[in-house]
Amino acid sequence: MNIGLIGSGGREHAICRKVYESKLVKKIFCLPGNPGTSQMATNIYADLSNFKEIYKIIKVKKIDLVIIGPEEPLVKGLVDFLIKRKIKVFGPNKFASKLEGSKAFMKNLCKENGIPTAKFKICKKINEVKKFLKISRLPLVVKADGLAAGKGVTICKTEEKVLTISKEIFEGKFKSSNKLVLEEFLVGPEVSYFVIVDKYCFKFFGTAQDHKQVKEKDKGANTGGMGAYSPAPIVNKILEKKIIKRIIEPTLKALKRKKNPYRGFLYVGLMIVDNEPHLIEFNVRMGDPECQVILPRLKSDFLNIIYNATINNLKKTKIKWKNDKSMTIVLCAKGYPGKYIKNISLNKIKNIKFDNKIFIYHAGTKFINDNIVSNGGRVLNFTSTGSNFLKIRGLIIKSLKKFNWKSGFYRKDIGWKIINKKK
Ligand code: AMP
Ligand code: GLY
Repeated sequence: MNIGLIGSGGREHAICRKVYESKLVKKIFCLPGNPGTSQMATNIYADLSNFKEIYKIIKVKKIDLVIIGPEEPLVKGLVDFLIKRKIKVFGPNKFASKLEGSKAFMKNLCKENGIPTAKFKICKKINEVKKFLKISRLPLVVKADGLAAGKGVTICKTEEKVLTISKEIFEGKFKSSNKLVLEEFLVGPEVSYFVIVDKYCFKFFGTAQDHKQVKEKDKGANTGGMGAYSPAPIVNKILEKKIIKRIIEPTLKALKRKKNPYRGFLYVGLMIVDNEPHLIEFNVRMGDPECQVILPRLKSDFLNIIYNATINNLKKTKIKWKNDKSMTIVLCAKGYPGKYIKNISLNKIKNIKFDNKIFIYHAGTKFINDNIVSNGGRVLNFTSTGSNFLKIRGLIIKSLKKFNWKSGFYRKDIGWKIINKKK
């Protein structure tokens, strides 16, 4: 099978590596890919908002199956566009992608179906925000309705902050949002639970714990993710049952009733309040960097699973996992998630001999001629697996020190909540 993989981040490098290992793959084309994927696949430059250009490449390269990594093409309807043209594609359609593309859609779906989530109010005008403030307790969480690359959520401790952030959203800070969601602030541990879904069934696809805040001990601004580990020990059998019965099943049933059954990865972002799961967010794809820690633990043939889900044959597909644990630490450009500089050389990566248990996924990198340079805020994902999180983290940090990229920084405390507990 020839595979077309859409995207260019660490998640796509991880997907590419797994597809490359599959017995079913012939050629992989990454649109546009990154220097990491170029070692296993052919990168082809493509503007991901130009669906016609993507379709042309699919035809010319005789691509049999398209896998979409990031949310934006999903939310914009790439799946619908390709299905209309009889191309096999893995991912949810435009309607189902609203689970991530519109927080208002997701919250209303929760309300209609009794799915546990934080109390909320959808606001289109500042007066509605002011009204809700009068009857609410602080802190309040303000969320831009549309996609915001992990930066659309602000936890506000004062009324003033709620009003400032709301005004910014109404004035167009996030182009995708002309409304916002105000939410009750929940307290509890967070966890991400993943399933793969086809028309008839869904199957477990791992758990992970992301670290979204930029500073150690989960302080500072929100980012796309500074590091993650898998599995997340907080998910026991009882909790898992609740997540499935109260959140996943009613959501998938509701989409079926709306005549848009879900297909693809579904990322369920949860907060556990007094042992009860509350839905914080849905993402309609694998997480980044969660994918980089979940896929190395997969034992079964990844492409076989994806293909079977695409043809609605998931029920008969076995998905087996290794006992290994895994962790990734994201090497970021100094300044991220604020302003940072791009185009800084990473070339020395070619000459350093890292421990053979380390794998480095490329995230924000690109080639300038033959040189690898930085091209984003989250640059590289240093990843490893093993039987003990403390040892895995030690090995990753040793490698990051060896790499010693002067223009970057990283969190040294990924997994701090579970690692400290075990000491
Ligand atoms: P989201 O993009 O919706 O996942 O939100 C980003 C992060 O903001 C989450 O991972 C949480 O840490 C935090 N957050 C979102 N909603 C709430 C909430 N209702 N209560 C407390 N924290 C929240
Ligand atoms: N790491 C968070 C996300 O992928 O949305």
